[in-house]
Amino acid sequence: MIKEASDWVKLCLNEIDEVTENKIVLDIACGSGRNSVFISDKVSKVISVDLNIDHLLTFNGSNIFKIQSDIENLSKWPFKNKSVDIVIVTNFLNRLIFEKIQAVIKKNGFLIYETFGEGHDKIGKPKNKDYLLKKGELLKLTRNMSLIFYEEIQVISLEKKFIKHRILCKNV
Ligand SMILES: C[S@@+](CC[C@H](N)C(=O)[O-])C[C@H]1O[C@@H](n2cnc3c(N)ncnc32)[C@H](O)[C@@H]1O
Repeated sequence: MIKEASDWVKLCLNEIDEVTENKIVLDIACGSGRNSVFISDKVSKVISVDLNIDHLLTFNGSNIFKIQSDIENLSKWPFKNKSVDIVIVTNFLNRLIFEKIQAVIKKNGFLIYETFGEGHDKIGKPKNKDYLLKKGELLKLTRNMSLIFYEEIQVISLEKKFIKHRILCKNV
């Protein structure tokens, strides 16, 4: 069964009036497609990219176009600049491709980004600090965009433990 989409993605999509039937969404490092599937009935096309073919094989949709690609291989970057309206990235970080990810977004398009923050390694995975955002880092990485929402949150409950940094910004 497909996992529940990210709460942050859901919240952001609710706030973006421009989420309409003629929009194209790119879900980067989509995994098993929870966010791709969630948004697929709200827009015209979803492009879902991941390295792992087993993950890509777990979901489908009539307007979901799946690409198996190593997005960290800069010489084979698979996307044209200014080609999509909304980019979604959840639980993935590679600073070296951050600018490339931003460049794919059309003018007036959006970036929805959510991943783990420093300190998370003490309460869960990933443990590798290279994959954890530093305080305020996501704001710096997106300083060329217009900020809509940003938060750094820590949740310690019986069910979940995580530290996440989340942003919604617009390419103006
Ligand atoms: C923690 S999962 C997150 C999946 C999804 N975004 C989500 O939140 O449910 C990270 C994903 O990144 C993908 N990934 C890791 N390195 C990658 C690369 N170099 N190119 C494309 N995908 C990659 C993995 O295969 C995995 O599906």
